[in-house]
Parts: sequence; C-alpha cells; structure tokens
Amino acid sequence: MTSYSGSRPSPRLTSVGPWGESVLQNLPKSVRVYEVGPRDGLQNEEAFVPSEDKIELIKSLSDAGLPYVEITSFVHPRWIPALADADRVAAAFEPSAATTYTALVPNERGLDRALKTPLREVAVFMSASETHNARNINKSRQETFTAFKPVFQRCHDAGVAVRAYVSTVWGCPYEGAVSPAEAVEVAEKLLELGAYEISLGDTIGVGNPAQTCAVLETFRTRLGLSQIAMHMHDTRGLALANCLVGLEYGVTTFDTSIAGLGGCPYAPGASGNLATEDLVGMLHGMGIETGIDFDKLVTAGRMATQLLGRTLPGRTLQACMAEHTDD
Ligand code: HMG
Ligand code: MG
Repeated sequence: MTSYSGSRPSPRLTSVGPWGESVLQNLPKSVRVYEVGPRDGLQNEEAFVPSEDKIELIKSLSDAGLPYVEITSFVHPRWIPALADADRVAAAFEPSAATTYTALVPNERGLDRALKTPLREVAVFMSASETHNARNINKSRQETFTAFKPVFQRCHDAGVAVRAYVSTVWGCPYEGAVSPAEAVEVAEKLLELGAYEISLGDTIGVGNPAQTCAVLETFRTRLGLSQIAMHMHDTRGLALANCLVGLEYGVTTFDTSIAGLGGCPYAPGASGNLATEDLVGMLHGMGIETGIDFDKLVTAGRMATQLLGRTLPGRTLQACMAEHTDD
C-alpha cells in the first residue's frame, strides 16, 4: 500500500485523463497575480469613488500580499472621469518592497503626470485591432508606436519599468475576429520599444480555451511566452478556463480585479476582469503558490463591495460572504 507520509499527493503527479494521457502535468509551482481592480475596475464606475476610499482599498490589497497593484490611470480625465484623481491617488504610494504600484499611461502627457509621483513602474496600452485602438486612444496603431517611443525612452532614462498591454487579442467589439499573428506583431514592436512584459487582453471576454490554445501557440512559436501575461475579462464566465490553458502553457502572470470589478468604457459589452479571489482560490486549491493571504483578500473584496454599494461579480467572494452570513 502506498504511504503518503501524511501529506496528500500533488495533483500534478496523479491526474491522468480518461484517454490515457497526462493532464495538468505542466502547471507552475507559483504564479504572479497582477491586481488591476483600482484601475480597470474603477475606471468603469459611474459614481466617483472618493480618493481616500480608493487609497484605503489599494492599501488593503497590498496588505493581502498582492505583489503588483495597478492603482490608477493618467489618461485624460474627460475620457475617464472616474480616475480624474490619478495624481492624488498615486502621490499616496511610496515604492514598497512588497508591492509594486503602477498606473496606466497613454502618452507623454500622462507620463509627465506619472513622473511627478513616486511610481517606479507604468503601463502603456494599445490594441491588436486598428478600430479599437482608434476608439480607445484616438490614434492609428502606427501613430501609437511613434507616440510611445519617447515614453519608453524617458522611462528608461528615469529608471521606470514599462509594461505593455495588447487589447482585443481574442476579439474586437468593432472588427470581430482578430488574427493572433496581428497581435504578435504588435507585441513584438512593444518589446522592441522596451516593454518588460506584454499583457494580452481579452478585452470583451469572448475567448474560449481552444482559441486560447491557438493564441498561445502562435505566441509560443513566434515570440516565446516568458514575457507574456494574460488579462482576461470574465464577460462570459470563461476567464478561469482560459487561464487554466495559460497555466498549462507555462504562463505565470495573470491580471485580475478584486471582486471582478471592471470593463473598458471604449469596448461596448466589456464587463469585469477575472475576479482576484476566483483565480487565487483556484490556484491555492491546486497547490500553486501566489504569496497572497486569501482571508485578507476576502477582506479587500468586502471593502470593494461596501465602497460600491452592490454585489460584485466575483463568485468566490460571494460564496465567502454567504458562508459568513450563515455563521
Ligand atoms: P486626444 O484627445 O487625442 O489627446 O486623447 P491630444 O493629444 O490631442 O490632446 C488633447 C488635449 O488633452 C490636450 O489639452 C492635452 O494636453 C490633453 P489642451 O491642449 O487641449 O488643453 N491631454 C491630456 N490631459 C491629461 N492627461 C493625459 C492627456 N493627454 C492629452 N494623459 C488620449 C488621447 C490618449 C489622452 C485619450 O484618448 C485618452 O485618454 N484615452 C484613454 C482611454 C482609456 O483610458 N481607456 C481605458 C483604458 S484601456 C483598457 O481598459 C484595456 C486594458 O484593460 C486591457 C484590456 O482589457 O484589453 C488595459
Ligand atoms: Mg482590461
């Protein structure tokens, strides 16, 4: 009889599919969770969340052990009024060894603002599809690369790290299907400009696991996956399934939003990101480390729920809150 010395065997060693091939064999031991709730989540809210409340929410996310928190966005306040207080919010966060604070920057004017704050990292963004790029940042893709050049150069000179998003990789609200090859070309140029990581966005949450295989296979063969993160909106409930494919492919950075807040105001139909608690709960259950304290994460999720005054989409948070109500 097999003895497990009191510990359960890892699912990695025991899971075999009914067709005889191994499944869940390639899972990483640890995953980096990149929290976007204060930015991607709150950017979509109609009611303005006061700066002090935003700051408290961000503090509670750091307290839960999130290694990265995207705290705001230096876009034009006319385009995103919900984050018009970006300068004030960012000023409240000194660099910390435990949590990297970062923010969206669309252009040099946004970078001017970011560089006046203590931030040591920013994220630029553009789309794989031409039409979404134009609607979202008012430029063609080619114009965007040109506008990003001085942004990357100035960040390099100032010692500020730059992450880059490629949106609409799984589909565009205006153009429909997007070829993975087109997304790779955009990602390649952003890496050449100096991005340390490319986060691939399923902006409107239309991807399914088979499509995710196709996307990641194209990236794996053309670019490799070591600098690739996944940013899945959970519009149709498939974000976790898509992330599981990512895990099998060796992707180890996933963007999530506390309580599933979120959306893109310039992508009709886009709803919240994959909820942080849903991903972290699944990963911990599978024995994959994140460095995050799950109970404190639930505390942050409760705070987000209170701030917005309604039930938020994250399923795991809802389950935890229901369990607590029954106590
Ligand atoms: P524009 O109107 O083309 O800007 O907007 P412009 O360069 O022509 O300048 C016009 C005026 O705006 C000027 O002022 C500028 O100074 C000012 P004026 O001289 O007329 O007084 N301006 C700014 N002011 C403050 N901050 C700035 C800034 N830039 C110019 N940064 C712009 C271009 C990019 C600014 C605009 O289109 C914009 O803000 N877009 C942001 C849209 C957005 O935030 N979308 C959501 C985030 S992306 C997302 O959610 C997707 C993601 O989550 C991944 C995924 O899910 O796939 C990342
Ligand atoms: Mg997004």
